[in-house]
Amino acid sequence: MTLTLATTQSSTTTCDALIVALMPKGKTGLELATHGITAAQSAKLLAALKALGATGRSGEVTKVTGITGIKAEVVVAVGVGDLRKKVNLDQIGAGLGNAIRALAGTKKVAIASPPEADLLRATALGAALGAYSFTAFKSDPTKAPAPVSSIVLLVPAPATAEQKAIVAEINVIAAAVNLSRDLVNTPPNALAPADLAAQAKHAVSALPVKVTIWDEKALKRDGCGGILAVGQGSANPPRLVKMEYAPRGATVKLHIVGKGITFDTGGISIKPAAGMDEMKGDMGGAAAIVGAMQAIATLGLNIKVTGWIPSAENMPSGTAQRPGDVITMFGGKTVEVLNTDAEGRLVLADALGMAALEKPDLIIDAATLTGAQRVALGSRLAGVMANDDESRALVCQAAELAGESMWPMPLPEDLRPSIDSATADIANIGDRFGGMLSAGIFLKEFIPEGQKWVHIDIAGPSFNDKGAYGYTPKGGTGSAVRTFVQVAKNLAAE
Ligand code: BES
Ligand code: MN
Ligand code: ZN
Repeated sequence: MTLTLATTQSSTTTCDALIVALMPKGKTGLELATHGITAAQSAKLLAALKALGATGRSGEVTKVTGITGIKAEVVVAVGVGDLRKKVNLDQIGAGLGNAIRALAGTKKVAIASPPEADLLRATALGAALGAYSFTAFKSDPTKAPAPVSSIVLLVPAPATAEQKAIVAEINVIAAAVNLSRDLVNTPPNALAPADLAAQAKHAVSALPVKVTIWDEKALKRDGCGGILAVGQGSANPPRLVKMEYAPRGATVKLHIVGKGITFDTGGISIKPAAGMDEMKGDMGGAAAIVGAMQAIATLGLNIKVTGWIPSAENMPSGTAQRPGDVITMFGGKTVEVLNTDAEGRLVLADALGMAALEKPDLIIDAATLTGAQRVALGSRLAGVMANDDESRALVCQAAELAGESMWPMPLPEDLRPSIDSATADIANIGDRFGGMLSAGIFLKEFIPEGQKWVHIDIAGPSFNDKGAYGYTPKGGTGSAVRTFVQVAKNLAAE
């Protein structure tokens, strides 16, 4: 999908469908917030919309055909609420996402876009992220309606440099989010740890990003006991991927780490059968790293960013780790594995320890870490924990600016004794109540004193098990990509 900018009149633009914004007016009235159509065309359009029961409510999508003088065969009115009263950028994005999804099967769509930077950005982002579907594993992909392939944003006056920059950036970000969605949606038999590593390498092959891959031998040599223990039950061996983007002159160093469990059966502490297929998405954090690294390097941000992907397949077998095993992690700490289904924290601990050796200014990890995250915050809101309040606020603010839903969460010290172990230094499970937080407390053990670190639990938001809504498709959502890119933008020197 490509987004472009143009200044042709909305009514005379050659396209399959034209999207216009619709607002409520007074109690029952309607008003178009658009440009490039005549008063007569507008009156006809409004009459048709009225007859079809459109209200202009935020997120509403109404299709109209046959408006004389408008070249597009279909005009789609997207409800945006009353913009004179309150502008909600997230709702504008969601509305555009709904419209673009409703137009799947259509090739070229024009949007009469608002020209103001923030509104244009929300419009472009919602449209670009709505144009997605995953058909790689359909024997005949032509049977499913293809997502819109070309979107033209129409602005009333010649495009400014700022508008061009916004559209260029959204193209990059949307491609990264969609790549991340593809990785999550890819079935687990097609995406073992070695495949994930190859995909990560491929995603940045044309970019100034150095990729290093640890195979099981290298992991053993370097003492990555957590990644090895989780991976030892699978015929598909584990991997660790390091992706380094270090533009000349950049001073700030950011490390980002993503959980890459390509399938989580739970291991010997096996999960129930119902819904286990969703555990193909247990590499959502890793997928966010791949997308973010691609976007950050493509945008050429002036900041050093290193991505880490610890990856394994968590399987039960004769070689799998057992509840009760004691393993030695990177850095030498020992962990008593009381539940093999708490595997994410084991692979992350090694990668966090390796990242910390390089003393970056900030480490952020994203992980589909706990079911407790969904219990606490629901399916759409990520939990953000940290060992430093300022860094946590920085990530939450970046998320808000990028349009992702994330919420600050504490790491209460009183939970620390719950991960005490009689046999090893610590155990891999703690208090079940506040399970999202005790997982964070476990990770914190692997962060050296003075190292700033933020942990994002994306168990819910990374995978949409219900129907599509707004610009969010069913399945992989690409959660955390936009936040990572926004953090990098905020920390980068101009
Ligand atoms: N990958 C799961 C967490 C998860 C659950 C992600 C549902 C997305 C949707 C994780 O590895 C896990 O199994 N966590 C356990 C931890 C428990 C054993 C302490 C959990 O949450 O039940
Ligand atoms: Mn698990
Ligand atoms: Zn898991």
